[in-house]
Amino acid sequence: EVTAKIAPSMLSSDFANLASEAERMVGCGADWLHMDIMDGHFVPNLTIGAPVIESLRKHTQAYLDCHLMVTNPLDYVEPLAKAGASGFTFHVEVSKDNWKELIEKIKSRGMRPGVALKPQTAIEKVFPLVEHENPVDLVLVMTVEPGFGGQKFMPEMMDKVRTLRKKYPNLDIEVDGGLGPSTIESAAYAGANCIVAGSSVFGAPEPSRVISILRSSVHK
Ligand code: DX5
Ligand code: ZN
Repeated sequence: EVTAKIAPSMLSSDFANLASEAERMVGCGADWLHMDIMDGHFVPNLTIGAPVIESLRKHTQAYLDCHLMVTNPLDYVEPLAKAGASGFTFHVEVSKDNWKELIEKIKSRGMRPGVALKPQTAIEKVFPLVEHENPVDLVLVMTVEPGFGGQKFMPEMMDKVRTLRKKYPNLDIEVDGGLGPSTIESAAYAGANCIVAGSSVFGAPEPSRVISILRSSVHK
């Protein structure tokens, strides 16, 4: 049985007050905190890395759902494990020949492996990683071009979610980009159970209301 995980994207938080923003989101009912790690190369934006995760870990016990938008994810496994990351989701576009090694290392360091795919990437690319004897635990379907918060949800990505849910009833399927009360219905209906939401949560007068709307939409 898959369960709903609502993961506010800390990319939309005030990075200068990350610890209190994290605490606020947990208080608002967040299940996971989504941490967008970008290297300025895989995507045209640069955010945070292991040092910031390590600092945040001293202030929260929350599940830190790390989304690696980087060209060399293998280089980040050890530093992020030491920093206290919980989930480690790399992009399939940069893991052509080393995904077995990546999954192996992520698991051996106590993190949960996930694989993400960009809007232009075909869903078939992730099948081998889900069906392998040592599989990923989660597939993240990007519903915007990775790099920035506040973009518009791409409903045509729901075909990918539907395909995954049909093939893998117990897989954690995460959607990321443009999710909020006005787009959650189609994502939840398609079968997504892990919901990342940045601007819709942080931009709301009552983030707890948005989180509870997202949660009650999943699980149908
Ligand atoms: C985009 C990031 C997302 C982003 C989502 O590259 O992966 O996690 O923060 O933000 P919203 O919910 O505002 O689209
Ligand atoms: Zn993300």
